[in-house]
Amino acid sequence: MKVEIKGNTLKLMIGDITKQETEAIVNAANGTLLGGGGVDGAIHRAAGKELLEACKEIRKNVLQGKELPTGEAVITKGYRLPAKYVIHTVGPVWKGNTNNEEKLLSNCYNNSLQLAKEKGIQSISFPSISTGVYRFPVDLASKVALTTITDFLKIQPFGEVVMTLFSQNDYDVYEASLKEMLSS
Ligand code: APR
Repeated sequence: MKVEIKGNTLKLMIGDITKQETEAIVNAANGTLLGGGGVDGAIHRAAGKELLEACKEIRKNVLQGKELPTGEAVITKGYRLPAKYVIHTVGPVWKGNTNNEEKLLSNCYNNSLQLAKEKGIQSISFPSISTGVYRFPVDLASKVALTTITDFLKIQPFGEVVMTLFSQNDYDVYEASLKEMLSS
């Protein structure tokens, strides 16, 4: 499904984000930036070990050894990926919506888009942040993601934003949320 928002494109698709040819892809990382399972592991495997070196460099020199806070985003090159850049963001761990999870998830999308825009990037692919290992319910996550992306695109010229969903079920949930948003 593809929609136009103020001259920008928002697309939903099923696929593997490591194969995406948008200028940037977003990684659902953790605060250590040292890799993990899920989409994080897949991105590090596909990009090669230089990506881990670049992440260690950011930990040391930009974050002074601290972890990247939840909702924040940093950028590296994409190395062996088709995408030129990887934006790493840390989604919230779902704790029954007792811990500001919706706002923190929204920050992930907003800060990633802002960072991409600052770098002159005009196309970006997101995975469904926080809905795997971090257990954020996909229906609520889809609403947060799509509202944040569309709010951004309504006020800023950007280009193309792709949500790369990893299963038919996730795609169906995101599609239903987008249709609902557009009809209300
Ligand atoms: N392409 C697109 N989506 C993918 C891919 C892929 N190659 N691999 C997994 N996914 C999907 C998952 O199916 C899920 O829908 O990405 C979504 C996010 O799941 P996770 O990768 O588990 O991310 P998250 O829930 O944010 O948890 C982050 O997991 O791997 C660790 O280091 C990571 O600790 C961090 C935590």
